[in-house]
Amino acid sequence: MMMITIINHDAQDIPMYVCLCHAVTDKQIRQAVHDGATRMCDLRRELGVASECGKCACCANQLRKDALMELGPASAARDVA
Ligand code: FES
Repeated sequence: MMMITIINHDAQDIPMYVCLCHAVTDKQIRQAVHDGATRMCDLRRELGVASECGKCACCANQLRKDALMELGPASAARDVA
């Protein structure tokens, strides 16, 4: 079983592939959340994350939550997975 894990990744520098099935990076996920894709179903529709094998779902969801926190408490309060 393949496992995708983030270890000491500086999200500001080098893009990291989160979804290998659709070649989606952490930066694309953060940008999509900043552009309004605040729910996992939004990210699935916009980028295709977690729509094939699903192994990226946990990591993508964590990045989604982190990006919402970056946007501020009001955005994080709207967090609906
Ligand atoms: S790694 Fe994202 S759907 Fe397979």
